[in-house]
Amino acid sequence: MAVIKKFKAVKISQNHLLGIQDLSFSEISHILDEAKTFIKLNRSSSKKTDVLRGKTQINLFFEPSTRTQSSFELAGKRLGADVMSMNIVNSAIKKGETLIDTAMTLNAMHPDVIVVRHQDSGAPNLLSQKVNCSVINAGDGRREHPTQALLDALTIINRKGKVEGLKIAICGDILHSRVARSNIYLMNMLGAEINVVAPKTLLPHSVERLGVNVFTDMKRGLDNCDIIMMLRLQNERMQGSFLPSAREYYEYFGLTPDKMVMAKKNALIMHPGPMNRGVEIDTNLADDINKSVIREQVELGVAVRMACLKIYCKKT
Ligand code: NCD
Repeated sequence: MAVIKKFKAVKISQNHLLGIQDLSFSEISHILDEAKTFIKLNRSSSKKTDVLRGKTQINLFFEPSTRTQSSFELAGKRLGADVMSMNIVNSAIKKGETLIDTAMTLNAMHPDVIVVRHQDSGAPNLLSQKVNCSVINAGDGRREHPTQALLDALTIINRKGKVEGLKIAICGDILHSRVARSNIYLMNMLGAEINVVAPKTLLPHSVERLGVNVFTDMKRGLDNCDIIMMLRLQNERMQGSFLPSAREYYEYFGLTPDKMVMAKKNALIMHPGPMNRGVEIDTNLADDINKSVIREQVELGVAVRMACLKIYCKKT
């Protein structure tokens, strides 16, 4: 059965996956349907297919990553592609080479897809204009992280059957979070109601224009919610002081049992990881198998990345 709704002959119009904002409802539905077909394969003992046999995938991660990079690497390998993950620390970037020079060098080796994570918003877009292959954005600055939002949607659909009509609270460092931005675009498009919850200093200017309800009181923001999406404080993107202290932040904006009771009884807890236990989330709640779907997000992330690689790699 289709995850959202069946669309006939969906064509993905872009050669690159740069952001949720570039996708239509039917394209999202197509990616999620495709991802669903890989969940079973990933749970079976033989996980290999040859959908991308002969194709070359390069992972280019300029920022630290555990989940996203390993997920893209496994996804490519399970599809039969040749996958090469650049080790930036030992690369010519350390000798002063620019992003574009690096990309052009890699481009000369005829990859079919480059998966890129970069600290600058818009870097994958720039790259996509210079290379001959597809580019998939694995997170750029504070702008977008499309595959994270897609895997979040798949996790919600897997548990709740749909996104439409659900009330989703996105809590924490909204200002610096590409995960928040991509999720706001995606969940809005899929028909959810979105509450963002954060201290004033961690809310983007005019955030309500993105189609969200804004709360600085977490208990009110969690009221009657179906999904609670927690975010990490993006300290690496903060210049100056945004918060009085981690302890105070936890007191007011950490997900704790006394705040959790405000949400629906069967509400789910999500987190893109990496988590800071005791800063944005209570450690027992993070591990509560009846509430937390954090591990499932990681699992379904591989399926979503397989779908994206299959769809975008084939386009070049
Ligand atoms: C997120 C990211 O890098 O944007 N992590 C991830 O991809 N799983 C969130 C974060 O780093 O806080």
